[in-house]
Amino acid sequence: MRDEQIPDRNVAMELVRSTEAAALAAARWVGRGDKISADGAAVGAMRMMLDTVDMDGLIVIGEGVKDEAPMLYNGERVGNGNGPKMDVAVDPLEGTRLTAMGLPGAVSVIACAPRGTLFNPYDIFYMEKIAVGSESRGKVDISAPVAWNIEQVAKAKGIQVGEVTVIILDRDRNTEIADKVRAAGARIRFITDGDAPAAVSAAIAGSGVDMMLGIGGSPEGVVAACALKCVEADFQGKLWPRNDDDRRLAAEKGLDLNKVLTIDDLVTSDDVMFACSGVTTGALLKGVEYVSGGARSESLVMRSRSGTVRRMTTEHHWRKLQQISGAMYREG
Ligand code: FBP
Repeated sequence: MRDEQIPDRNVAMELVRSTEAAALAAARWVGRGDKISADGAAVGAMRMMLDTVDMDGLIVIGEGVKDEAPMLYNGERVGNGNGPKMDVAVDPLEGTRLTAMGLPGAVSVIACAPRGTLFNPYDIFYMEKIAVGSESRGKVDISAPVAWNIEQVAKAKGIQVGEVTVIILDRDRNTEIADKVRAAGARIRFITDGDAPAAVSAAIAGSGVDMMLGIGGSPEGVVAACALKCVEADFQGKLWPRNDDDRRLAAEKGLDLNKVLTIDDLVTSDDVMFACSGVTTGALLKGVEYVSGGARSESLVMRSRSGTVRRMTTEHHWRKLQQISGAMYREG
């Protein structure tokens, strides 16, 4: 085989172990009203697994700054240091509240791309977003009226405007957008949290979602852009300042608040890897289910370069896992 014919390693296949581990750990906390413990469990499990991955990873989107986040903080190195130099975006538990309250749609997620290719929103916490599937790629514009974007999606999908389902994070700041969606005649699915998997669901057939609109977290926007790039779907974002402090920070970091961030601005590389595992069942993935002596998880593993999308159901056996990983996996 000549060199260029040998496929390089798909790190995403290893990354999914870290989202599975985080999902299994967080799933113990479903409905127990304690989002801090749920998040802590997910972070610890993901961190431990990431150390086994062949990469020299740098967390660009993580749990926050070092002083406040003991693990997976922005700037932390992850991986065993042996493989490719990667930027890493993690959200060990996307939907802490969903998990604590036992609500649908919590996931564990990770995305990687070559070093220097993931957008860094710093502490500009919110981003206005539009996410659509591959058939609508290049046909929407976040700066255009909501009704026009919905029409574009309806046309691209060959359905009526009234048949389009828009998923929206239920927040006061999104009321105006929701009103415009209603005025256009489309349907809405509201979610209380978790707009990263919601954005991805807009591109996955069978999710029942056609597009995502609204203002949510910026880190979640970068993560969603990575996933949507893998399936040649589309995403645009616009940083959304909360106050003058955000405006000052943006100026200091050279971030243009009026700029439409395209999917290629958010992740400039064409070699993106994405893995995501369900914690509680939602539009995108099934949550963790327990069976005698173990559990079953569902994950999505994707890589932009190959275009492969794997939906993976994994059976986990506590006794065997304990033998190889000690106390990390436990029964009950
Ligand atoms: P966490 O689980 O990390 O708390 O994030 C949940 C989430 O709903 C994201 O999906 C979303 O982007 C963000 O929070 C929205 O922030 P806020 O709750 O401040 O509106």
